[in-house]
Amino acid sequence: MTAAIYIETYGCQMNLADGELILGHMTSHGYVRTDDPEAADVILLNTCAIRERAEERVIGRLTDLARLKTRRRDLVLGMCGCMAQHHRAALIARVPALDLIVGPDAYRRLPTLLEAARLARTTNARDRDAPAVARTGAEVNPLVDVRLDPDETYADLPTARTPGSVRAWITIIRGCDKFCTFCVVPYVRGRERSLPAESVLAEVRAAAANGAREVVFLGQTVNAYRDGDCDLAALLRRAAEVPGILRLRFTSPHPADVSLELVRAMAEVPAVAPQIHLPVQSGSDAVLARMERGYTIADYRALVARLRDAIPEIAFSTDVIVGFPGESFADFDATYRLLEDIGYDHAFLFKYSARTLTKAARWEDSVPEDEKNRRLAHVIALQEKISATRNRRWIGRPVEVLVEGPARRSPDCVAGKTPQFTTAVVAAAAAPGTRLWATVTGATAHTLLATPIEAPEYAPGGRAPRAA
Ligand code: 5AD
Ligand code: SF4
Repeated sequence: MTAAIYIETYGCQMNLADGELILGHMTSHGYVRTDDPEAADVILLNTCAIRERAEERVIGRLTDLARLKTRRRDLVLGMCGCMAQHHRAALIARVPALDLIVGPDAYRRLPTLLEAARLARTTNARDRDAPAVARTGAEVNPLVDVRLDPDETYADLPTARTPGSVRAWITIIRGCDKFCTFCVVPYVRGRERSLPAESVLAEVRAAAANGAREVVFLGQTVNAYRDGDCDLAALLRRAAEVPGILRLRFTSPHPADVSLELVRAMAEVPAVAPQIHLPVQSGSDAVLARMERGYTIADYRALVARLRDAIPEIAFSTDVIVGFPGESFADFDATYRLLEDIGYDHAFLFKYSARTLTKAARWEDSVPEDEKNRRLAHVIALQEKISATRNRRWIGRPVEVLVEGPARRSPDCVAGKTPQFTTAVVAAAAAPGTRLWATVTGATAHTLLATPIEAPEYAPGGRAPRAA
C-alpha cells in the first residue's frame, strides 16, 4: 500500500529546497505527497537551528502533531534538517513521540529509515496494550541518522517542484567553511561542497520546462561555488542561456568573497537581476572582528559602492544581529547609522541567541535580554521607514513585473516581483510567468501598487524589454 508523506519546513530557502528534494526522493520510492497532516502516514518536520526562537516553534509544533498518534498509532513522526543534527539528544528527551531523527546529509537513506520506522510503529500498534517501555521500536528509541558526509550533494536525486511555480530555488553549494563565531551552520551542515555545474544546469532546464521563469541559486555562501573552472559568475552566464529563464538571482553571498567577475556578470548579463542580499551582521568593526566575518565596514562600503557603480538601481538587502556578546551602545549605534547610510531596500533583523558548539557561545551573553529587545525594536522601526522611502522612489516610474499569481488581498489584481525583488501588485489579469510593465502608483514599506502599461522603449531602473 502506498504511504502518504507530509513535510513541514522551517527556516531558510535552502531548507525549503531540501523539503522539495526529500519529497522528490520519497515519491520516487512510492510515497505520495499530502498537504494534510491528518491524512499522512509519515510526518516530517524539516527544521532550522539558526536561532533559539526557530527551535522553540518546532518543539511546539512537534508536541501538537504528536497528539495525532493517539488516534493513529502507526503514524511515524520524524524530524530532519539542522535542528535534528544539532539537538538530537535533547529532542529525544523533550519529544518522546519522535520516531526518527535525520540530519541534512542523510536524506538519501530516508526511504530505508522510514521503512524501518514504519515497521517499528506497526509492531507497536499491534502491541498496543503493552507498557511503553516494554514495546519495541521507535517510540522508545527513535532511529537516528545524523552522519555528516563531506561528499553528499544530492546532485542525482529528483526534486519535487511545485508544478507551475514561477520561481525555482536551486541549491548549488551545501555547507559552510566560514565559522562565523555566532553561527551553528558549519556544525550542522558540514563542509562546503559544490554541485557539478552540469547537474545545476540540468536542474535549471528542468525547472524551465516545468514553467519556472526565475531561478534563484542557493548556498550558505553561494559565491564560494566552484566546479573546476566554473565559479558562480560563470554559472550565472551559462544559466542565462537556458531558454525560458528570464531572471536569475543568487543568495546568500559572503561579502568578503564577492569577486570582480561576479560584479561583472551581474552588470553584463541582462537576466541576472539587479539585486543582492549582502549580510553585514554589524556596523562596528570591533564586533565584526569578534564575529570573525573577514571584512571591515570600510571593505563592505567599498563593495556596496562598486556594485552601485556597476549596476544601476541595484537593490540591497541584509542580515543584522543586535546584542552580540560585548556589543556596546556605540557598536549598536554604528549598526544603526550603517542602516541609515546604505539604505537597504529590505533587512532581516535578529537579536543574538547563543548556539551551542559555536565560539561565541563560550563568551558571556553580555547584553541583557530587555536591552536586546530595545535595540531590535529600534532597528526594526528604522528599517520600516527606510524600506518605505526606498519603495516610494518608484512612484510614477515604469517597472517590469514577473507575475506569480493572483494578489492575496485583491483578487482582481496580480502579484509578482520587480527585478529588485520588491513585491508589486498590478491591477491586471495575467497568467503566472507573464512579464508585464506597469507604472507604480503607490508604495508601502513592503509592496508597490501599479497599473499596467505598454512596454516602454527606455525604462530607467528596469531592464530593456527582451523577447521571452
Ligand atoms: N543569533 C542570531 N542571529 C543569527 N544568525 C545566525 N546565527 C545567529 C545567532 N546565533 C542570523 C545571521 C545570518 C542569518 C541567516 O541568521 O544574521 O546571516
Ligand atoms: Fe553562518 Fe557565517 Fe557560514 Fe553564513 S557564512 S552560514 S553566518 S558561518
